Amino acid sequence: PDAGQPEQDLVNRRILISAGGTREPLDPVRFLGNRSSGKQGVALAEAARARGGLVTLVACNLEVPAPDGVHVVQAGSARDLQEALSASAASADVIIMAAAVADYRPTDVRSEKIKKEHTGDTLTLELVKNPDILAELSAACRPGQVIVGFAAETESDPDRLLTLGREKVTRKGCDYLVVNRVGWSEGFATDRNTVLLLDRHGVIVKEASGSKMSVAHRILDVVVQTRLP
Ligand code: CTP
Ligand code: CA
Repeated sequence: PDAGQPEQDLVNRRILISAGGTREPLDPVRFLGNRSSGKQGVALAEAARARGGLVTLVACNLEVPAPDGVHVVQAGSARDLQEALSASAASADVIIMAAAVADYRPTDVRSEKIKKEHTGDTLTLELVKNPDILAELSAACRPGQVIVGFAAETESDPDRLLTLGREKVTRKGCDYLVVNRVGWSEGFATDRNTVLLLDRHGVIVKEASGSKMSVAHRILDVVVQTRLP
């Protein structure tokens, strides 16, 4: 499809996309976060909308504006995200988990600001594991639904990166995994991306590189070729 008018191959499909990075509160003024800008997930939402999809974007602390024409639900923390997704997951035809979800959250959230005169020269935080939302959604997947996960890896060796992706897709149980390398200057906050798309067996079904919008379209190309009923 040309850039002006993409093919209308997602008409009336319900597309649920998470984007951004979760923030796990520590106290009323602080959180633990990550460097995800939300750009790739927002590009996916815009691309899916342009192809005729009915898009719900669960927005986790986005650094970029949400696109027009999509239904936006805000979620701050991983548990907010889990709740927001559970409301729409069952009716979605496609679920894309582009959000960077915190693996752990502070065990207890203080109701008052943590004061440094009450702590010492060091402060130890206790964290507890967050639910694995993608694994849960994949386990609850109904026939005909397509679930896409993302893997952010700092591994620079291409063979090791592929192995990590294959292990991850098996662990998560999703239909596809978008593997991208991230680092101090790669992946996050940039306007370009380079990804590998693995199917549930770990087979490379697509490699894409370019603007986050063009990568979004290549990911959706794979989704529409799947068993959408
Ligand atoms: N994810 C999720 N819930 C979590 C953690 C991650 O749904 N608690 C999703 C992310 O949205 C992404 C995929 O799982 O689509 C992979 O996330 P990633 O952080 O790469 O993998 P993890 O399984 O958390 O493993 P690790 O961070 O140790 O590499
Ligand atoms: Ca993780």
